[in-house]
Amino acid sequence: MKTTEVIDLGPGTEALSQDVCDRTIEALEAGYVVFLPRYGFPVTDSDKPLFSPSLLNKDSKNVSYNPATRKLGGITTSQETTALLQGMMQRFADFARQLLMRVSPDYRNGLNQARASFRPVEIEGRASSWRKDDTRLHVDAFPSSPTQGKRILRLFCNINPDGRGRIWRIGEPFEQVAKRFLSSIKPPVPFSATLLQLFGITKSRQTPYDYYMLRLHDAMKADERYQAEVEKIELDFPAGSTWLVFADQVSHAAIRGQYQLEQTFLIDLEQLRHKDQSPLRTLERLVGQKLI
Ligand code: SIN
Ligand code: FE
Repeated sequence: MKTTEVIDLGPGTEALSQDVCDRTIEALEAGYVVFLPRYGFPVTDSDKPLFSPSLLNKDSKNVSYNPATRKLGGITTSQETTALLQGMMQRFADFARQLLMRVSPDYRNGLNQARASFRPVEIEGRASSWRKDDTRLHVDAFPSSPTQGKRILRLFCNINPDGRGRIWRIGEPFEQVAKRFLSSIKPPVPFSATLLQLFGITKSRQTPYDYYMLRLHDAMKADERYQAEVEKIELDFPAGSTWLVFADQVSHAAIRGQYQLEQTFLIDLEQLRHKDQSPLRTLERLVGQKLI
């Protein structure tokens, strides 16, 4: 089972060849992880105080950062540490955007840089409800922020200071996942999207596409037997590496590791080379109707 495309990019900021950009975009849209083993986010000595789970408030598993407003969320720290964290997160947001622009210039137009996060808690053994448990294979879908057909592209950097890897599992291709679970998902109820928005449960309208993606996410995670039996491959992302993935398409789980940065980008469907490979078009084919 092919899961990964390796792009052996060294440090630097020069423009990349068309061949590298083509390989990246083709791999991402086909549902592979694009792995940059030698291209890491530079952590500085002054960032060292940030390597502790005690940054987090008791209800959060991640620090969140909004690059548009420069606001942090999920934390309880001194003013000094907050300033340090803000500095690292903004440097990371810039790093992530510049890297994406270099490897996938096709996505430049209509690019929406959403939240970034810092994940300082060890994943293995972390207590969590099944729905929030990212050690179970799933595709990403946002309960309160519908993407309305936009793609969820995520860039990850393992910045573990002790050289420990981040261990993921990759499951079967999206179409197989969708075929397996769609028959158990009831169609959306008329007016439910209006009610969800009216009561503030969603920040914008939940399209039928968002509805099916959320149900798929839940159905995968809730099915213990599926989790145990489905074919999967383990990947080890070493400290100092970076990887990109369409997380709404690739069945993934993070099972071990601590200290990671993540940046989410929302990509307009129109910017894709192969719209027919997207979860939206795949679900539309399988359900037999338009979903946005
Ligand atoms: C996830 O996106 O499901 C978790 C990824 C990670 O924290 O490594
Ligand atoms: Fe995920």
